[in-house]
Amino acid sequence: MLDKIKDLLEEVKGLTAETAEEAEQLRIKYLSKKGIIPSLFNEFKSVPNDQKKAVGQAINELKNTAQESINNLKEQFEQSNLTSGASDLTLPGSQMPIGSRHPLSIVRKQIVDIFDRIGFTVAEGPEIEDDWHVFEALNFPPEHPARDMQDTFFINQDPDILLRTHTSSVQIRTMENQQPPIRAIFPGRVFRNEAISARAHCIFHQVEGLYIDEDVSFADLRQTLLYFAKEMFGKETRIRLRPSYFPFTEPSAEMDISCTLCGGEGCNICKYTGWVEILGCGMVDPAVLSNCNIDPEKYTGFAFGMGIERIAMLKYQINDIRLFFENDVRFLEQFKAES
Ligand code: DAH
Repeated sequence: MLDKIKDLLEEVKGLTAETAEEAEQLRIKYLSKKGIIPSLFNEFKSVPNDQKKAVGQAINELKNTAQESINNLKEQFEQSNLTSGASDLTLPGSQMPIGSRHPLSIVRKQIVDIFDRIGFTVAEGPEIEDDWHVFEALNFPPEHPARDMQDTFFINQDPDILLRTHTSSVQIRTMENQQPPIRAIFPGRVFRNEAISARAHCIFHQVEGLYIDEDVSFADLRQTLLYFAKEMFGKETRIRLRPSYFPFTEPSAEMDISCTLCGGEGCNICKYTGWVEILGCGMVDPAVLSNCNIDPEKYTGFAFGMGIERIAMLKYQINDIRLFFENDVRFLEQFKAES
């Protein structure tokens, strides 16, 4: 009997089936009540006592092996049923939602591209800065209000470590590391301790520009910014420079563009003046050049800085700066078409 069981064991190990039906037939053949294996249990009764242990173990092993291989066959068919059901080729494809660029990324890229065309490279600097790069080297007097806790987020005092309030700090880092000619722009995130409203946020983005070489003049500044304004807002755009004050430029100016909405006629956006302010600029103060070991007798340069949110708000007529930071998909998906 042991030999017979051994043969059967080999047999069930090599079972194969082409269909679920065939697998079921095998189950009936070997394992059903009247199948081969249960009938062995009947024969077992007549096995002599001294062989009972060995035969019993062999039958059990045979039964387990048969069950296992038939279950495996069946499982295989169940799985292929599932996959064939899932790949109904007539089903419409499922849509993959495509993300869109954030409007601030779109506008930053446009600004970078415009200045790239006239030879400005891009550099970045750290958001956590020291007093030297944000204030001291830029000629901010010690009592300047920007150095007050009310305007600046300090991380540490004495030594002062803070979140940069403007990207002008990257001007300093660039001039410290490189001798002229320097022609670069510095996009980045800045932080100010301000109450959040429709027009102001404590986090926003700027692009700073810097051009230092021999004989750089205010006319170069004006022409560069006129080029930028026309590229950004359209060929018909006009600019005007108004005298202003920044500690790090002398002379300093603020630049307005003719209103993008009414073209200068007067409307809500330009508060009926025909002009909207978009950036600050000026000739780099000789003291700032000296602070960075650049010879002010030999070199001159201009700088400018603008808020990316402000440019984007004008370009897309967005009236609340908070929209940029809320990540509301209904707002963001409107910019899908842009590259
Ligand atoms: N840093 C100034 C600000 O945050 C913007 C600015 C003005 C930058 C004039 C400049 C500049 O480079 O020349 O308000």
